[in-house]
Amino acid sequence: MIRICPSILNANFEDLPGEIARVAMSADLLHLDVMDNVFVPNFTFDLNKSQEIIEASALPVDVHLMIAEADKHAAQYAFENTASITVHYEACEDPRNTLLSIRAQGKRSGIAVKPNTPIEVIEDLLDAIDMILVMTVEPGFGGQSFMENMMPKVAKARHWLQQKGLSDTWLQVDGGIALPTIRTAYLAGADTFVAGSAVYKHSDPAEMIEMLRREALRSE
Ligand code: DX5
Ligand code: ZN
Repeated sequence: MIRICPSILNANFEDLPGEIARVAMSADLLHLDVMDNVFVPNFTFDLNKSQEIIEASALPVDVHLMIAEADKHAAQYAFENTASITVHYEACEDPRNTLLSIRAQGKRSGIAVKPNTPIEVIEDLLDAIDMILVMTVEPGFGGQSFMENMMPKVAKARHWLQQKGLSDTWLQVDGGIALPTIRTAYLAGADTFVAGSAVYKHSDPAEMIEMLRREALRSE
């Protein structure tokens, strides 16, 4: 079982409801990239705009917070249609408490690690995590190249989940996921895939989602 989460970062911001509708029948979750121009050098949506998008989305929303002081703000993104909230390890003072505050809102708790952050930093937090996000690009922008050298981090996280019997914890990759790369991430152990430009630069985003799904799961 895998999940494909299109990111609207590279969609047409002038017509987000229309852009979301184009993927609603084939995607599992909508991935919302929230950037504050502090944690990353780019700005996307503030809390009010995020709320508007989440409430209007035809899909449950996977919120990826690329914001500073994530501890203070994470739980505020728990709207009815929010499925999960992911904070960056690097942006938290007390990641365990923040993850638990997300769960307390009835949402899946996610933690992300940037490319230069070793995966080992989250090992002691696994019991509080519903989704691990291994970034496969430097966060901030869509359309960057997939970092294949992040695969050992994915494999290590998969190994921990198996070893500890955490079969309900998802393992997500984000950045550069497209037809030539999704299989590599799947084989390393990822089960949840964010795809931004691959989906929205394709003439038929829904068809691309199905192609990505088939490519990840192909038998040979
Ligand atoms: C990058 C964002 C990603 C981005 C992915 O900071 O977290 O979700 O939208 O875009 P692609 O798939 O184009 O790399
Ligand atoms: Zn993202």
